[in-house]
Amino acid sequence: MIHQTLKPFPKDFLWGAASAAYQVEGAWDEDGKGASNWDKFVRIPGKTFKGTTGDVAVDHYHRYKEDVRLMAEMGMKTYRFSVAWTRIFPNGRGEINQKGLEFYDHLINELKVNKIEPILTLYHWDLPQALQDEYGGWESRRIIEDFTNYSVELFKHFGDRVKYWVSLNEQNIFTNHGYHLATHPPGIKDEKLFYQVNHHANLANASVIKEFHKYIPDGKIGPSFAYSPSYAASSSPKDIMAAENAEELNSHWWMDTYVWGKYPEVAWNYLEEKGLAPLIEKGDFDLLKEGKPDFIGLNYYQTTTFEENPLEGGIGSSEMNTTGKKGTSKDSGIPGLYKTIANPNLERTNWDWNIDPQGLRIALRRMTNRYGLPILISENGLGEYDKLDADGVVQDDYRIEYLRSHIIAIQEAISDGVDVMGYCVWSFTDLLSWLNGFQKRYGLVYVNQHEEGVHDLRRIKKNSYYWYKKVIESNGTSL
Ligand code: NOJ
Repeated sequence: MIHQTLKPFPKDFLWGAASAAYQVEGAWDEDGKGASNWDKFVRIPGKTFKGTTGDVAVDHYHRYKEDVRLMAEMGMKTYRFSVAWTRIFPNGRGEINQKGLEFYDHLINELKVNKIEPILTLYHWDLPQALQDEYGGWESRRIIEDFTNYSVELFKHFGDRVKYWVSLNEQNIFTNHGYHLATHPPGIKDEKLFYQVNHHANLANASVIKEFHKYIPDGKIGPSFAYSPSYAASSSPKDIMAAENAEELNSHWWMDTYVWGKYPEVAWNYLEEKGLAPLIEKGDFDLLKEGKPDFIGLNYYQTTTFEENPLEGGIGSSEMNTTGKKGTSKDSGIPGLYKTIANPNLERTNWDWNIDPQGLRIALRRMTNRYGLPILISENGLGEYDKLDADGVVQDDYRIEYLRSHIIAIQEAISDGVDVMGYCVWSFTDLLSWLNGFQKRYGLVYVNQHEEGVHDLRRIKKNSYYWYKKVIESNGTSL
């Protein structure tokens, strides 16, 4: 659809930026905080770039006031952050650590004073290690109760000030890396377990959403999903079927369950035939249906392109591509279903991710057509090797170009009729990349933090900071 005139961004559009506790806070064992799965994992030699950890990260725990001041100066309307479960319950459950609540009280109050709407993520991948040790974390149904208790404490404590909540961040990614690719904790490769873990996470997600509305009736909650729309490599029906297969298994599998409380039949039948479908207990589907989100959070970075992959002699093992973040330039796939290829029509970043703003519009339209829920763009941004130059400036004009083209795509989607609540740039400050240390940066604000050498943690506004400030001021008219 080509629009003669684009609709303006809504007046109350939530222009913002995002972060996650483990990637920014540091203070990993201060004020009674317990150890998370990431605190343990990064200490295993060879797991992260040069052994980087989140022990200090960008020290947001001690510098949150300065960070909020920078947000306020930029005119930010919303800030999405996550709570570290282990600050509240050092062992995952039991007695509350008051100091943990206090930290987030201070942060939230600081945001409110500066008229910045908090969006609180309950779970951004840092599981209490105690729960992993005790019963395998997401591997056990016991996680449902513990995650619900933890979340309810946050609803009770922060519900008077926080209206927008994200339940699970990128369940498709943390389970894929944790139980399939073995690159995140707990570092397991077990496809059957992967689906079982996801079933537990779906139940935990639904249980928390169900409770939420009892405590915060006028609040809004939803999961954030890493959606990488599937494209067919050509107009050959076989390639189109490959893309359809990927959409079913890598996207509908999660989003249908969040919204409708049931697994999509095509994917379910396929998994059942392979003996991979999760075990379901009585009442599970009732709970899933009771946990309908108010919105879907969309984390969008890129699209993935698929072509046919014959059953006999096809490429790949059972390696799924749930993200588009792996295997887009190298072949990977599932024989009989699909294989991924690099899209020759798209440019790629230095981290080999494709740049596809139209893919964001496509994602928004597909999600709206299928689910009809409002969408919060909970992450979008560009990871690059930013450099602080001799004049103390970070010339990240490539980031401005990336963000501009994606914001235009959002406005086009709004003009198409999509209900977009807001847009969170990933990320506000530079932060720790889970596996890549500080080489890969996303921030609007540079942080002088490195694996080696000088790291005084100074904050320096990048060119993109000044540009985004104008975008917010003009409600998206000055791009
Ligand atoms: C996904 C995750 O939510 C976030 O933690 C990560 O750093 C970015 N996207 C970039 O990979």
